[in-house]
Amino acid sequence: MGAHFILPHPTRKHQMHTFVIDESDALDFMSKLATGRVRFDAILTDPPFPNARASRATKGTRKHELKVGNAAMSERGLDYTARWFGRLAARLLRPTGSLLMFADKDLLDVLRGPIESTGFRNRTIAVWDKGSMGTGTSFRLQHEFIVHFVLSSPEFHSNDVPSVLRHPRVAPSRRHHENEKPVELLKQLIGLTSPPDGWVLDPFAGSFNVGFACHDLGRNFVGCDLNLAHVEAARARRDGLKAIPIAATAATAV
Ligand SMILES: C[S@@+](CC[C@H](N)C(=O)[O-])C[C@H]1O[C@@H](n2cnc3c(N)ncnc32)[C@H](O)[C@@H]1O
Repeated sequence: MGAHFILPHPTRKHQMHTFVIDESDALDFMSKLATGRVRFDAILTDPPFPNARASRATKGTRKHELKVGNAAMSERGLDYTARWFGRLAARLLRPTGSLLMFADKDLLDVLRGPIESTGFRNRTIAVWDKGSMGTGTSFRLQHEFIVHFVLSSPEFHSNDVPSVLRHPRVAPSRRHHENEKPVELLKQLIGLTSPPDGWVLDPFAGSFNVGFACHDLGRNFVGCDLNLAHVEAARARRDGLKAIPIAATAATAV
């Protein structure tokens, strides 16, 4: 975490909603946040997916190795990492908060058990319908899962979000990140799981579109990414935003 990282005191009056963009490893960042006072209404994130092709390519030699982002990882390593992530997420969320994770089938297979072992319950698996097929053969993928984990009875802040959310992919010419999620899709998820002036965390932020969606909706955002180029691009975009004054201070401190 950068030396200039300061999580604002949640009871102080701000001129603008918080929009933290940090260059960090997700688990380091979450560990440091866990010593602070803010509890999040929602953790909405999109971790790197295990690469099934890399997994098949290593069959026979290193059968249980997966490729996650740029890192090769054993299934045991991934299981351990997911448990660590789950424990930190459980400490950072309000008891009535929501953990929402984008996942494909492979990531869902490896994440659900370890995360549920840390006190979460998988409540729903919603679907992002991208409106058109991806590349490949047979069942060409047109969807991703949005996996909803809760610690107890979650609070919802909107009643018009279906389990299938239809939003076209971000057009390549308008993309800031190769795995960028559409802001309008993220706004539906944030509006469902956090109140006005609430707090949202994304520790695998990529384009930081979760933060830009929070800005549009009047939520506080804290996020990080390991990749400096993504962080710098997001900071440049954030510098171009107009301030939206907040009416009330966040009531999410514990
Ligand atoms: C699937 S992308 C997220 C895309 C994002 N949802 C968006 O809309 O742009 C995953 C991101 O996680 C980042 N990442 C990978 N390993 C990480 C780690 N250990 N800590 C933090 N970020 C990491 C990658 O740099 C990548 O930008």
